[in-house]
Amino acid sequence: MKREWWHNKVAYQIYPKSFYDSNGDGIGDLKGIISKLDYLKDLGVDIVWLSPIYVSPLADQGYDISDYRDIDPRFGTMDDMDELLKEAHKRGMYILMDLVVNHCSDEHEWFRKACEDPEGRYGKFFYIETVKDGKLPCNWRSYFGGPVWERLPGHEDKYYLHVFHKKQPDLNWENPDLREEVYRMINWWLDRGLDGFRLDAIINIKKALPFRDYPADRDDGLTTVHNMLKEAKGVGVFLREMSDRTFKPHRAFTVGEVFNERPEEIPDFIGEGGYFSSMFDFAETVFGQSEAGWQDNIDITPDDYRNCVFETQKKIADIGFISNIIENHDEPRGVSRYIPEGDQSPESKKLLATVYFLLRGLPWIYQGQELGMENIPVASVDEVDDISSIDAYQVALDAGWSEKDALKLIGKYGRDNARTPFQWDASENAGFTAGKPWLRINPNCREINLETEKADPDSVFHHYKKLIALRKSGEYGDTLVYGELIPYLQERHNVMAYLRKSKEQTLLVLANFQREPQTLPLPGKVKKLLLNNLPDDPQITEEIRLAGYQAVVLELSRE
Ligand code: NOJ
Repeated sequence: MKREWWHNKVAYQIYPKSFYDSNGDGIGDLKGIISKLDYLKDLGVDIVWLSPIYVSPLADQGYDISDYRDIDPRFGTMDDMDELLKEAHKRGMYILMDLVVNHCSDEHEWFRKACEDPEGRYGKFFYIETVKDGKLPCNWRSYFGGPVWERLPGHEDKYYLHVFHKKQPDLNWENPDLREEVYRMINWWLDRGLDGFRLDAIINIKKALPFRDYPADRDDGLTTVHNMLKEAKGVGVFLREMSDRTFKPHRAFTVGEVFNERPEEIPDFIGEGGYFSSMFDFAETVFGQSEAGWQDNIDITPDDYRNCVFETQKKIADIGFISNIIENHDEPRGVSRYIPEGDQSPESKKLLATVYFLLRGLPWIYQGQELGMENIPVASVDEVDDISSIDAYQVALDAGWSEKDALKLIGKYGRDNARTPFQWDASENAGFTAGKPWLRINPNCREINLETEKADPDSVFHHYKKLIALRKSGEYGDTLVYGELIPYLQERHNVMAYLRKSKEQTLLVLANFQREPQTLPLPGKVKKLLLNNLPDDPQITEEIRLAGYQAVVLELSRE
């Protein structure tokens, strides 16, 4: 596989609204990010992806953009953005923005003009259909609930398509004029010195046309958009064109939010010369998800987690470089999800960090993950911000769930879990803001916060630093970045283990994913213990005895 500059890097996602507030308005901002660049650099981060900071009504927290070429005043100014790029580059770091081009905001100028003249140039930027006798063009359900069709303001008989929120009208990628506008915008950013993008919801840009109904999968008579996506062919034509016209000439780094890809398409996505540099692994993210709603989701066990991860590793092999995560701004906190309920502790969090971070691929850290930040309890639906949680709550109530149980679902799967402000210290607002935080602070900030963890050499934070140092070390880095990944003891219950093997070295990552100790066979002689998440070293003979939630990294002898 061709080696790329970013393969040995560490990437980090910032959710700007909740990272650090520099001006006391309760909302994180660009100046706040700039002031924390040294923190990120010291942690070992190289590539930073910012969730959207463009001008937006924030109906979907910035994933509804009303001006692609400016910064929302709540986050700062274009000068702040230029400064962020300058300061990051000075430190040898790279900045990615979120590229949200499946849809824009209904407050974008394009959509306003489309409403004024649906037959004109801008009307053709969207999917606008004339509706007769009240029959919508198709029965797809939007990701945030309800039909994907909304009446076009100012027109009785016209509807526009929105696969997400009604304030996020879909852009019509079949129209070359729209595509040109998008490419101009992308190049404008890259010319300003931006290093690349994360591509939002990108699979959705290709619709199966003409619009048609699919079998209903809930009592509402609607059907998941996934049914349409399974049928939609040819997204690659758009992605190839976009890549050739924008990313490739700029040598930009790109990572796709890609769901529902067909396995045979992976080389086109992230193989040599693929549309993107990398894409996220969501196999474990989507595990157990039900189309019927959160109330029907199935919990993931450590064995399921391991199997999902290994399935992806096998599928990708050396086709390309997958991006590994345990959480992002759309998911519950990884430690609350992948560690069995009640077992969250610094040890188990360090175990989870170890097993995912040393996989083949690019490791990503979502803000606060390095502290072991957890889900936040919900007392009432009134304190929920996330639009998808509010919809899922209603779906659960309609399915006969009590309010109390429906709230528990939000606490488990809701997007606010990852969006609560970063816990800088133990003070009232976790050191995030001098004002009133836009979203509630997790009360556990008294124990889980950067200041406390910095002072404790055994903290989750210091474990992340060790993992980063190991992956970047001259001695083991090459094996951890490029070495083959071979699953080990995959049949053992509550064990996650794999070898990372290069010509010169064999490393073993071995984790006991349960409270009870386990004695496990070793595939060879141990040369050196490289990392241990517990204070006591394990007993090693031909076997190894691991305490509950112990994870180790071993170098094995080659003879
Ligand atoms: C995926 C983003 O990550 C999510 O936050 C957003 O709501 C949708 N795409 C729509 O842009």
